[in-house]
Amino acid sequence: MSKLTIAIAGATGAVGQQMLQCLEERKIDCELRLFASYRSAGKAFSFQGKEIVVEELKEESFENIDIVLGATENDITKKWMPWAQKHHAVVIDNSSAYRLDPNVPLVIPEINPEDIQKHQGIIANPNCATIIALVALNQLHQEFHIHRMIVSTYQAVSGAGVKGVKDLENQVKDPSIPSTAFPYPIAFNLIPQIGDFDENGISKEEWKLQNESRKIWHDPNLLVNCTCVRVPILRSHSESITIECDQPVNIDKARELLESAEGVKLVDDPQNQQYPMPLDTSDQDLVFVGRLRKDPSDPTGHSMILFCCGDQIRKGAATNAVQILQALIQNQN
Ligand SMILES: NC(=O)c1ccc[n+]([C@@H]2O[C@H](COP(=O)([O-])OP(=O)(O)OC[C@H]3O[C@@H](n4cnc5c(N)ncnc54)[C@H](OP(=O)(O)O)[C@@H]3O)[C@@H](O)[C@H]2O)c1
Repeated sequence: MSKLTIAIAGATGAVGQQMLQCLEERKIDCELRLFASYRSAGKAFSFQGKEIVVEELKEESFENIDIVLGATENDITKKWMPWAQKHHAVVIDNSSAYRLDPNVPLVIPEINPEDIQKHQGIIANPNCATIIALVALNQLHQEFHIHRMIVSTYQAVSGAGVKGVKDLENQVKDPSIPSTAFPYPIAFNLIPQIGDFDENGISKEEWKLQNESRKIWHDPNLLVNCTCVRVPILRSHSESITIECDQPVNIDKARELLESAEGVKLVDDPQNQQYPMPLDTSDQDLVFVGRLRKDPSDPTGHSMILFCCGDQIRKGAATNAVQILQALIQNQN
């Protein structure tokens, strides 16, 4: 069998660069092509001991490409998707452009790997805050059946790409430098807006947690109440989550389940100041979960609260996409 040819579309961005690293770390045997805008054409990156030069993404770029890892914004992705389809390349996409399309599986490999097989040329990677929450909650959902969750997110600036990182780095040195990725200064601040608001005051990012979780868990009745906040953290999103379940919750059982949950590290010893924090979860692939406790405001005993953190560029984007790629390769062999 000839070597797989893989392309990264958006190779110079926060997610694209992390994809390059994940492909290298996971020793994916492939020919690699890197695409970005005309601004980056000619830049070079090292991969498996070779220099690969970034090319401008054009209509014919996907000729002879087997799999595209998409790491561009929605509008750019919508532009190049028909080019990939024309050349029958399978796309694993990180944007939100196709996530809710009924013909596009939305996949977290630890949760719904079987959905990968249903693809018709596009597989979508879920929103980063959704991936981190669902990896943390999946075993609890299997045991207690979550019907409602109340979530507050604390989202790192790198969630807004390379520009977001530059804003924070610039503003900690000089707070008068204006933001390019956010509506307000982000250093020494936080911003309770990620994405545009609808007429009810709910932001696009906040809807993603409900709509995408319903699709991944195949549960159209799941209810999510979410507040998304951008915080001056470079990397790793954190989330405070209250879950309401059909079954009464048991904290010891929840700990036991999380000890062995795939993709999870239980860090839950608050008496000894052990709990998840974004500095500890950055640049690795596990979602850390801790601060497990019953909800004292729910006398029925059906609710519990937890705190989780995960690297949203890795597990929330690049790693999840490369795991899907590995599953695709395995199924082809
Ligand atoms: N950052 C995260 O934590 C995260 C997590 C989950 C999902 N996502 C999603 O992943 C996607 C990429 O996000 P990011 O944070 O990596 O963004 P980013 O850092 O801003 O990178 C954007 C990439 O798109 C490329 N690009 C821009 N215009 C282009 C064009 N006309 N043709 C081809 N390439 C073009 C850029 O190339 P140039 O450098 O040449 O401009 C760059 O490589 C987005 O859809 C985002 O919502 C991001």
